[in-house]
Amino acid sequence: MVTTVADLQETVIKKWPFSMKAVGLEANIIREILKISSRPGLINFAGGLPAPELFPETDLKLATNRAFDKWGPAMLQYSITAGVTELREAIAKRMSRHVHMNFTADIIQITSGSQQGLDLIGRAFLNPGDYVLTERPTYLGALQAFNLVGAKYCTARLEDDGINIEEAEEQIKKYNPKLLYLVPNFQNPAGLTTSGEKREAIVELAKKYQIPIIDDNPYGELRYSGERQPSFKEIGGNAVIQLGTFSKIVAPGFRIGFIAACPEVMQTIERVKQSTDLHSNAFSQYILLEYIESGRLDDYHIPLLCEEYGKRRDTMIEMMEQEFPREVTFTRPEGGLFLWVTLPEKVSVSDMLNPAVEAGVAFVPGKPFYPHGDNDRHLRLNFCNASHEKIREGIKRLAKVFKDAL
Ligand SMILES: Cc1ncc(COP(=O)(O)O)c(C=O)c1O
Repeated sequence: MVTTVADLQETVIKKWPFSMKAVGLEANIIREILKISSRPGLINFAGGLPAPELFPETDLKLATNRAFDKWGPAMLQYSITAGVTELREAIAKRMSRHVHMNFTADIIQITSGSQQGLDLIGRAFLNPGDYVLTERPTYLGALQAFNLVGAKYCTARLEDDGINIEEAEEQIKKYNPKLLYLVPNFQNPAGLTTSGEKREAIVELAKKYQIPIIDDNPYGELRYSGERQPSFKEIGGNAVIQLGTFSKIVAPGFRIGFIAACPEVMQTIERVKQSTDLHSNAFSQYILLEYIESGRLDDYHIPLLCEEYGKRRDTMIEMMEQEFPREVTFTRPEGGLFLWVTLPEKVSVSDMLNPAVEAGVAFVPGKPFYPHGDNDRHLRLNFCNASHEKIREGIKRLAKVFKDAL
């Protein structure tokens, strides 16, 4: 019988029999950088964190009380796998408004953040060794989710107006991917947005080669300038599986996202979801429902985020224009959280991370966003999380690191 701390520490299992997939998983560099970000004085442009001082705390407290009054024990009880019906209705209504189409609750599956949406899609569609076509660079978390089911990747260059269509078609012919995975709005990591023309061309490819499009869209509602582009769903209808999340427009701690897809896909996704975790957190689903129904998210909070994040983006870009050496270039996103910096050839950005942290500023090196890890000239900066003052100081520190390295 175990009785003491010493007993608990004794090595009983000499070698834990982890699965090959688990052993093969690499730590996400962003989570690793988050660990060092508690260093005093460090200005952290690394994580994907929204600005904490802008979380709608008071409105969420009020929504929590209203939810308890209205829904009582249902908030604390097991729920159905698809998610709270009223929340799915509210999401379908919001989507209908944004996408100018008529959606109903039955095409919505609630997920624990869109990261779980990626996991469910990976498990619903991919067998080990199956290819996924991605932009190059692409969202690191999608690679992690698809890696877990043994996916391989074929990629096409991401240009200012979206993926290179000719390269994408060549890759499709060569590798016969099962899914086209894209982040068309204010992409993570590059901050770039796919043009309407390219969206049409991608839908054409999807139809021609019969490959579903996964439209991962956490940032679409955070637009600060420029023109809205038509959504993939508007153009591609049922060929498109859309992922959404409330992480960036409400709070990531809620862990509420969704998958929107046609009924045939929903059925399989629901079964995979059921075997994964039965259902997402019902408690936060009801609070979110009350918050959406109050009108405060759409009428007040999102406009507030757009105004403030837009200003922070402008501050960062202004500082970069002033401070960075001329050979360093960067994207100018119309929305979202991130911008993407490119250094001259022959520079290893990964090697700059330690000097940058020593200088009191953190970024994410771009290499892990490349499915084949074959490009080390870029870095990602989050322009939303830090105050204007910290943005100014952080960019000065980063500029010095660049100047020392070049
Ligand atoms: C493109 C993209 N997809 C999915 C996610 C996951 O978000 P969450 O699981 O918090 O909804 C993120 C988070 O940064 C992201 O940038």
